[in-house]
Amino acid sequence: MDYFRIVGGKRLRGTVEVSGAKNAALPIMAASILCDGEVTLHNVPDLADVRTMETLLNQLGVSTSWDGPGTLHLKVEDEMNCHADYELVRRMRASVCVMGPLLAKRHKAQVSMPGGCAIGDRPIDLHVNGLSALGADADLVSGDVNLRAKHLVGTELFLGGPFGSSVTATANVLMAATLADGRTVIESAACEPEVTDLANFLNACGAQITGHGSPRITIDGVKNLHGCVYSIIPDRIETGTFIIAAAITNGEVRVRSARLEHLLAMVDRLRAVGVNIEREGDDVVVSSARRLEPTTITTQPFPGFPTDLQAQMMALLCLADGNSIITEKIYPDRFMHVAELNRLGAHLRKEGPTVIIEGVKRLVGAPVMASDLRASAALVLAGLVAKGETLVNRVYHIDRGYEKIERRLRALGADIERLNRATED
Ligand code: EPU
Repeated sequence: MDYFRIVGGKRLRGTVEVSGAKNAALPIMAASILCDGEVTLHNVPDLADVRTMETLLNQLGVSTSWDGPGTLHLKVEDEMNCHADYELVRRMRASVCVMGPLLAKRHKAQVSMPGGCAIGDRPIDLHVNGLSALGADADLVSGDVNLRAKHLVGTELFLGGPFGSSVTATANVLMAATLADGRTVIESAACEPEVTDLANFLNACGAQITGHGSPRITIDGVKNLHGCVYSIIPDRIETGTFIIAAAITNGEVRVRSARLEHLLAMVDRLRAVGVNIEREGDDVVVSSARRLEPTTITTQPFPGFPTDLQAQMMALLCLADGNSIITEKIYPDRFMHVAELNRLGAHLRKEGPTVIIEGVKRLVGAPVMASDLRASAALVLAGLVAKGETLVNRVYHIDRGYEKIERRLRALGADIERLNRATED
């Protein structure tokens, strides 16, 4: 099993290019099920999750082929199978994104319920309710959600839940509604840039979608969608992670393809704590040369502060000059990194969905355990600045969402290497 060995204390310097967005690529790949012709995607990140989606699509009769790094061709060859089984769905929750396309195109979807994960319960009731509102019959058999509809009919529907909008539920309903009869209006739709990217992709395939990027999306159903050539947006969470890497090491880094307009809430908090962030076209230049100020952060749906950067920001605030507060409003239990950061000498106290961060002068390296993708990123960031050696175990979590992270950090001057041991300690 792979692990990272990091020796902290190196200031990062240089230029890093951001990869394509995982959370845009996954639903867009799933949307190829809707298309009659070939889809060619550029800027697809080479990640474990992308490979898992590829395997699932292959099982569902979609042929895939890579054409150099980042370019993926997808084409439906066989429409018989409509079943996403537990084996793949439990490995990757984003597998549920095939539900809307299968239902709309093949009139049937059988998708295993994902179950909980390290960051929370993560139900899929909004997905099922939204698709039912379009006319699908739904039931649960042996842990699979079974959806059927001879044809879907557009309607007005509300998609908000107890924690606000849902990114992948919006994606599922949006994809299904492209082929429904008549007009669908999704109220309380997710506004995340990844949903906007999906809608732009679908429009490039002939869909009639307006209002994406706002909480009210209107979809006028069409008879069919064709293929297209499309380029995935840069990953805003990876961008944010590199920005924090520069800040935490008091370095100076140019992040290429940064699309800062997708990260304004984070930029606002980083400037508040004293990080210098300059925009130069699509690049951002980050530097930080002094001890940071503390701050208060609450995670929210877009355009609020993203939950997917909460752990990384916590790593940074561990070293601020005073007490900070982070409140998690999307996944109130997404704090597996707290105990691990404390192993590195942080002073963190969790109270319900809030963590109080008492800034310390330094972190000290230790072996730590990655629990999920973003928590692992936070541990790597902490390791970059901790005194001595940090061993981050179970880095398969980080490989799900960051392409060759250790090589790219090493190119910026970090002392980080990937090692392997046959069995886990
Ligand atoms: N929720 C419900 N019912 C549902 C769906 C969601 O109550 O049917 C709740 C969730 O439990 C959560 C909130 O609504 O409290 C928002 O969850 P959402 O559905 O938006 O999350 P998701 O679509 O499953 C995507 C990203 C996550 C990211 C969240 C929030 C993908 C593939 N995943 O998940 O990304 O944290 O949105 O922004 O797009 C990651 O990349 O590390 C990651 C976990």
